[in-house]
Amino acid sequence: MAKLRLDKFLRDQGIASRSEIKDLVRKGMVTVNDTVVKDPAAYVTSESDIVKVNGERICYKEFVYYMLNKPKGLITATEDKAARTVLDLFPEKIRRRDVFPVGRLDKDTEGLLIVTDNGAFAHDLLSPKKHVTKLYEAVLDIYPGEQAIKAFEEGVDIGGYIALPARLSFISESDPVIARVEIYEGKFHQVKRMFKAVGATVLELKRLRMGEVWLDESLKPGEYRELTDEEVAMLMR
Ligand code: URA
Repeated sequence: MAKLRLDKFLRDQGIASRSEIKDLVRKGMVTVNDTVVKDPAAYVTSESDIVKVNGERICYKEFVYYMLNKPKGLITATEDKAARTVLDLFPEKIRRRDVFPVGRLDKDTEGLLIVTDNGAFAHDLLSPKKHVTKLYEAVLDIYPGEQAIKAFEEGVDIGGYIALPARLSFISESDPVIARVEIYEGKFHQVKRMFKAVGATVLELKRLRMGEVWLDESLKPGEYRELTDEEVAMLMR
């Protein structure tokens, strides 16, 4: 069990800014085990002490994990001077935790994006050594033929780099051509470049799954929800 200062406890949970937290505590709006504590430097035990702000319990979470259905048109970054980023979809309370997207989807790609404040988790998820597969669905301009399946299996040249073997299948061969591809890596424009290598252009791209975790289809583009404990465990495996 971790012992930490009350102001740090509240800051870690994204309750308010540093100075607002000091004010809240000094004004007597924070209780620990139902006793008003006015000292921001008082120590609390994160798991066992019951901390409330204005009567509302604040449960301590070391890390947070979200599944976002990324919409087209937003860039995958934490901030940008000109463009809207995926973090603009999250409220201040969550952004204050310094959350960030795990990996990158292109501006015109949609689908599953994990957002967390756990750096080690993100690092592991992206490491090719961990073999966390990513499944994409692509709408193509033309059907590249059966031979594309073999080419993907063997590893296509995406411009001076041979992609790791990938599994390709077709949901539909015409009107529109829809393919699914499962890859282990996340090179820049990887899926688009892989299809280019077999003569097809990606018109639309959506990430459906990472590891064993599927995009929750009840999330509309731009919506997010917390990952369940089971989903986090599946991604950590
Ligand atoms: N591959 C791409 O080409 N674009 C993405 O956004 C993700 C994978």
